[in-house]
Amino acid sequence: MKFFVDTADVAEITELAATGLLDGVTTNPSLVAKSGRDFLELIEEICGLVQGPVSAEVTATTYDRMLAEGRRLAEVAPNVCVKLPLIWDGLKACRTLSGEGIQVNVTLCFSAAQALLAAKAGATFVSPFVGRLDDVAYDGMDLIGDIVEIFGNYRTTLTTEVLVASIRHPGHVVQAARLGAEVATMPPKILHQLVQHPLTDKGLAAFLKDWETTGQRILA
Ligand code: E4P
Repeated sequence: MKFFVDTADVAEITELAATGLLDGVTTNPSLVAKSGRDFLELIEEICGLVQGPVSAEVTATTYDRMLAEGRRLAEVAPNVCVKLPLIWDGLKACRTLSGEGIQVNVTLCFSAAQALLAAKAGATFVSPFVGRLDDVAYDGMDLIGDIVEIFGNYRTTLTTEVLVASIRHPGHVVQAARLGAEVATMPPKILHQLVQHPLTDKGLAAFLKDWETTGQRILA
């Protein structure tokens, strides 16, 4: 499973990229607004920090403007993945930009029917938002299961990857992996939480305490 980080904070991305565990980055207009940075400069900088796809979202809502914005974003770096909202014009723009060899992430997906349309439009990724579904009393992971199953029926012709988004806790990541989703994008905090287990900390403390009693050093 690929791990993307969902942030526009360059310091956080730099730190996580250094682990070698980061496969890509997703941003959205809200995260960019929070950064206070110039959008194009920010995306260029992030693209230089990671080798994998960096999702940068258009803010236009009509086909022509989405195409223009998408093409401009794609010029910033070869690893830009243009993010388009799951509306009719977004799907049309997805079909056109994908045909031009530009990576596309179709975002704001809340149903299996929408995911199927994104795949038919040639999306590189489709982003179902599990946390926002949970927030309104639907089970976001049920949607992931449905999409993975449907895409699995057509894997010889369909290449769109399921990018699980709006992740709120480590359990979402584990469930997404069990279901076979290709990618999970999560806030840096969740990525850090994945490593934590109290028994690891307790076990390590005990090993180190016992090691001290030997008086030995591995390195002189
Ligand atoms: C994904 O690409 C989105 O930016 C993100 O996962 C949205 O998450 P949120 O629902 O926590 O805002």
